[in-house]
Amino acid sequence: MNPKQAKERIAKLKRELNAIIVAHNYQRPEVQDIADFTGDSLELAQRCVGADAEIIVLCGVRFMAETAAILNPASTVLLSHPDAGCPLADMINVGELKQWKERYPKATVVAYVNTTAAIKAESNICCTSANGIEVVTSCLAKEILFIPDQNLGHYISTKTNKRMILYPGFCDTHAKVTAEQVSLAKQRYPQAKVLVHPECRPEVINLADAALSTSQMLRYAKSCNEKTFLIGTEEGTLHPLRKQNPEKEFYLISDGFICPDMKKTTLETVIEAMQTKSNVVIVPEETRIKAKQAIDRMLAIT
Ligand code: 13P
Repeated sequence: MNPKQAKERIAKLKRELNAIIVAHNYQRPEVQDIADFTGDSLELAQRCVGADAEIIVLCGVRFMAETAAILNPASTVLLSHPDAGCPLADMINVGELKQWKERYPKATVVAYVNTTAAIKAESNICCTSANGIEVVTSCLAKEILFIPDQNLGHYISTKTNKRMILYPGFCDTHAKVTAEQVSLAKQRYPQAKVLVHPECRPEVINLADAALSTSQMLRYAKSCNEKTFLIGTEEGTLHPLRKQNPEKEFYLISDGFICPDMKKTTLETVIEAMQTKSNVVIVPEETRIKAKQAIDRMLAIT
């Protein structure tokens, strides 16, 4: 099937199934282009609240599809590839979280959305990279147990006055970027604005002009007068950046800034999931209700 045929097939399946397709900014360009909606983790969650569709096809990774299923039990949520996971989300399990909670009984547990539904169900409130500072600031407790991304947690700690206990998880893809790579890229493009994701290491964030979620990068680039940008996040984000700003130049800080799980989805896997109604994401009801409380608390303040 050539790309044109694949797009036509997807459009037909969408009509037949009364489906919508939502895609994260890290997806392949051709997948982003067939989506009804693209965005960062926060926007995808917001878009799924009350989505008027029998089927939501989530092009992204499992925790994002779980969030869609938690927020919209009336729709069937299909993940765009059965094995698209998030190694960061898998770095903490419920047993480990319970041990940490026992160690820090007074702490409010703030869970990055890059966690499983079971972890969200054991947490007080969720956050994304777009609203982490707001969420942590809103907590009444002085002590925050932040799970599982230590780099995002550290960045938030520099912007708030909370005592943050950081679980030692990290995103393999973002943690690969080094301060040396940023310095070299800045030598090459001295006027460029450096935009990095807060999952990057602290020393990388220190060299950047801004630490932003993927959609915040899109808004920053659009409103900024500067013409050249160095981007410190997954390469998929270059697609909307370039599409929305054809007169500007965007370069990755380092080559190979690729999340292998995000790249598992192709037009063919989207067709396969829709045609066979496979990869249905099911969150047990008890877990769903508890996880939804943590997500709802986040959405209420964002
Ligand atoms: P955003 O919420 O900024 O899009 O990031 C999602 C993510 O998984 C980063 O690795």
